[in-house]
Amino acid sequence: MKLHIADSYERASGLAAAEVCRLVQAQPEAVLCFAAGDTPRLAYSLIVQKAREEQIDFSRITFIGLDEWVGIPPENEGSCHYFLQENLIRPLGLMPAQVHLFDALSRDLSAETERLNQAVAHAGGLDLILVGIGMNGHIGFNEPGIPFDSYAHVVELEAFTQEVGQKYFRTQTVLNQGITLGLRHLTEAKQAILIANGLKKAEIVRQAIEGPVSPDVPASVMRLHPGGLFLIEREAASALHSSPA
Ligand code: PGA
Repeated sequence: MKLHIADSYERASGLAAAEVCRLVQAQPEAVLCFAAGDTPRLAYSLIVQKAREEQIDFSRITFIGLDEWVGIPPENEGSCHYFLQENLIRPLGLMPAQVHLFDALSRDLSAETERLNQAVAHAGGLDLILVGIGMNGHIGFNEPGIPFDSYAHVVELEAFTQEVGQKYFRTQTVLNQGITLGLRHLTEAKQAILIANGLKKAEIVRQAIEGPVSPDVPASVMRLHPGGLFLIEREAASALHSSPA
């Protein structure tokens, strides 16, 4: 595990974007898995900008979406699908054949988990996974208590996640379940990056980095990844004992 404390959100996002672009330049057929959410928004815009400026070819990558709210249609602005479509897939000009996202409206969610497990496996595994950290320590929708060795699954969301998740939606929305890749996808990825910013994440970041490695704090799984990089902005790092902040 590596810890990088960045001076600003812009700096943390820039480092994440640079890492993604570096990988795609070195390996144009890279398999990338990205989270939706407020945290990586700037990193995605910087990736798009860099891809344009430096003419980085994303046409051969495979793109895998990390998770989705069950029952939320892709045209809903709060869905992960919509977010990834608007912030990455469309601006990068990715083609449908290279993009794999959960269909959260499927009547057979178990088949959906299998479809995404297969998509990752057929692509040869993930080269890079880029995630945020939930207020309860979740990664994707791997809520506290989910075993580290899980692949894709459907999950009942904690009341806290349902409440925090309202921020993505214009109106009060029922968010009982999520569908997500598992933490084993993260530990098996060749590279894993977790970004966190803001004071509100400081305590959960401390638990993930300095507390026990335990499914109680899913993001602590990053410490089992030999190259796992915590990219933490100064305020989000302020509760760390190792932090200069
Ligand atoms: P956020 O979400 O980036 O919107 O804070 C993080 C998460 O829930 O994983």
